[in-house]
Amino acid sequence: MRIGILGTGTLAAALGEGWARAGHEVAIGGRSRAKAEELAERLGRDVLAVAPREAVTGRDAVLLAVAWDGVEDMLESVGASDGVLEGTPLIDPTNAVTHGVGALLIGHGASMAGRISGLAPGARVVKAFHLFPAERWTRPPGGGLPRVTVAMCGDDATALDVVGELVRDVGGVPAVLGTLGRVRQLEEVAGFVIGLAFAGFDPGSAVPHLPPRDGRDGSRA
Ligand SMILES: NC(=O)c1ccc[n+]([C@@H]2O[C@H](COP(=O)([O-])OP(=O)(O)OC[C@H]3O[C@@H](n4cnc5c(N)ncnc54)[C@H](OP(=O)(O)O)[C@@H]3O)[C@@H](O)[C@H]2O)c1
Repeated sequence: MRIGILGTGTLAAALGEGWARAGHEVAIGGRSRAKAEELAERLGRDVLAVAPREAVTGRDAVLLAVAWDGVEDMLESVGASDGVLEGTPLIDPTNAVTHGVGALLIGHGASMAGRISGLAPGARVVKAFHLFPAERWTRPPGGGLPRVTVAMCGDDATALDVVGELVRDVGGVPAVLGTLGRVRQLEEVAGFVIGLAFAGFDPGSAVPHLPPRDGRDGSRA
């Protein structure tokens, strides 16, 4: 696939590395051209540094790997309001939460994915990759690492399939929770996980461990 990444920070680096390793062409665009070039050089292989506008043009999927309060600026800078992302799967991994506490910082009933859909008309927004620390995606899939479930929400079945493939490529198992009508719940879960983690608890131990149904753990995915 031809993947565009907006942002040059920790998550952009981790998923850029994972997707390049899986054989995809990755184009990185950030507000700092120097940081995009430095990251592309570090990742090597088929990773290019491009202008943000180019990172969203002619891509099979775009990852919006920017701080939640930079989303509006970034989408404006690529011309999202003009429909440049129309038809493109747009992955939203953002967490609009207070650092170390996990309380959501967006209005009651609102969601970042919903806000992004409004800022990028026609984009096929998929919430994904917001729950695990970025470093999870830098380790090659297999090699004894258990696969993790990547819960996603989205309205478009084709976009969910595309993002599901990108999840598998970095060692995850895609799980669609529902449409964007349910995405606020998925965003709240990140706050729950962050809140427990910063308080010193293992968030995984705070939910029941239920064995996956046949094939749902990725062993046959
Ligand atoms: N890191 C993780 O483990 C992780 C895991 C799950 C989800 N996430 C989410 O993924 C997103 C990126 O996280 P990260 O850890 O990669 O953050 P990061 O390392 O701090 O990088 C943030 C990126 O956002 C850009 N940015 C900030 N404000 C901007 C603005 N006004 N206009 C354009 N670009 C702007 C930064 O550009 P500059 O470098 O020029 O400032 C940088 O490229 C966040 O929403 C975060 O909640 C992160």
